[in-house]
Amino acid sequence: AEANIGVTGLAVMGRNLARNLARHGHTVALHNRTEGRTRDLVERYGDEGTFVPTYSAEEFVAALARPRKLVVMVKAGQPTDAVIEEFAPLLEPGDMIVDAGNAHFADTRRREQALREKGLHFVGTGVSGGEEGALHGPSIMPGGSAEAYAALGPILTDIAATVDGTPCCTHIGPDGAGHFVKMVHNGIEYADMQLIAEAYDLLRHASGLSPAEIAEVFRGWNSGRLNSYLIEITAEVLAHTDAATGQPFVDVVADRAEQKGTGRWTVQTALDLGIPVTGIAEATFARSLSGDAALRDAARGLPGPARTPIEGGADFAADIERALYASKVVAYAQGFNQIQAGAKEYGWPIDLGAVATIWRGGCIIRAGFLDDIRAAYAADPALPTLLTDAGFAAAVRDAQDSWRSVVATAVRLGIPVPGFSSALAYYDGLRAERLPAALVQGQRDYFGAHTYQRVDRPGTFHTEWATREQAETEV
Ligand code: 6PG
Repeated sequence: AEANIGVTGLAVMGRNLARNLARHGHTVALHNRTEGRTRDLVERYGDEGTFVPTYSAEEFVAALARPRKLVVMVKAGQPTDAVIEEFAPLLEPGDMIVDAGNAHFADTRRREQALREKGLHFVGTGVSGGEEGALHGPSIMPGGSAEAYAALGPILTDIAATVDGTPCCTHIGPDGAGHFVKMVHNGIEYADMQLIAEAYDLLRHASGLSPAEIAEVFRGWNSGRLNSYLIEITAEVLAHTDAATGQPFVDVVADRAEQKGTGRWTVQTALDLGIPVTGIAEATFARSLSGDAALRDAARGLPGPARTPIEGGADFAADIERALYASKVVAYAQGFNQIQAGAKEYGWPIDLGAVATIWRGGCIIRAGFLDDIRAAYAADPALPTLLTDAGFAAAVRDAQDSWRSVVATAVRLGIPVPGFSSALAYYDGLRAERLPAALVQGQRDYFGAHTYQRVDRPGTFHTEWATREQAETEV
């Protein structure tokens, strides 16, 4: 049979994508660097659809109907370049390589340009939802040319998750736009996970609840406005008991969070774009802090307050819910602003409402909350920040007394809440009438003649700080 699409790289993500395609009636050519995985897939799942196993690059390419569609699902970085080098010479103009890995968008831009010069389409595609999502319906964020999307879109929307009948897949924009948006998705994922972790820490040490009790609190939250995949799995993890020790699972896991790099990329990119994604940055740094075992060993035992649960600790849970919600609005607002800035910088016509729409299902941050974001951008596509949307503004206004009291309590008890507190600082910074940035400008002018502007008239000014008169000149 001639395959209408092929997958190379058959580790669990690639295998599940291939199975998802086959289950939707596509004839899927299979290829893997080592043969075992290809044989194994056909042996175990061959009855799920039509697979065409191939055992060389040439055979794989020959099995594909033209224009060929190759999905590459290998490790980001050098392995992706190696696969492109192997396949590109075998392809013909109009063929499409879909990179479904977590590539850096700058790599995707470079690869897209190089292949475009050869007449090939390179479609950097964000895929979120983990192993289960790949099999049952991920959220899919394709970049690349409109021409390639015209051919690939129907296949990708077939295998994507759906919400209210709308597929969680849309053409994000040219070249690296898809991988950029996937990167920010992962950054937001980091921020959301950190905020949930801080809420857990507060419920544990400020409210004095056990992991099993906290699991119940999260279950309750999951039926409210915080309803989301991440809250749901948090409850499951907290309710889990370690079989070997009988202890709560969360107490036997080493408290060092790992990371593969997408959160770090989001922050690095945000710094270049000048967009304060403090929630993502704090989450990434919190993982780094947790992972620095030597530093933590050296610092353990430094003085601080005792973590004595507060009076009325159970009621405090409602305050924590509000703090979590408000901090989450900030984290998502920042992430969407980064996408907006990236779109501007790289000339991508990204529709923020469409991004929210395809994140409602399939991906790791899927949640009812994303539908509220979709609605906010539908009401005002030029919304400067989610925080000024009428609905979010009202929700944050109602949450803020609790938010402040939660941060204050955490500070008093010595419980680190970088996510909650930085989100609040961002909110207060944005809404401030005047910021101390004026003083920073004065300092800069003092030591470096860096000049400043005035509030009362236009122009650029410098004060002769070292002279007795300290006269001001317009420069
Ligand atoms: C997804 C996930 C996926 C992966 C992360 C994990 O959207 O399906 O984000 O891409 O699980 O890369 O990232 P860390 O290992 O850095 O936590």
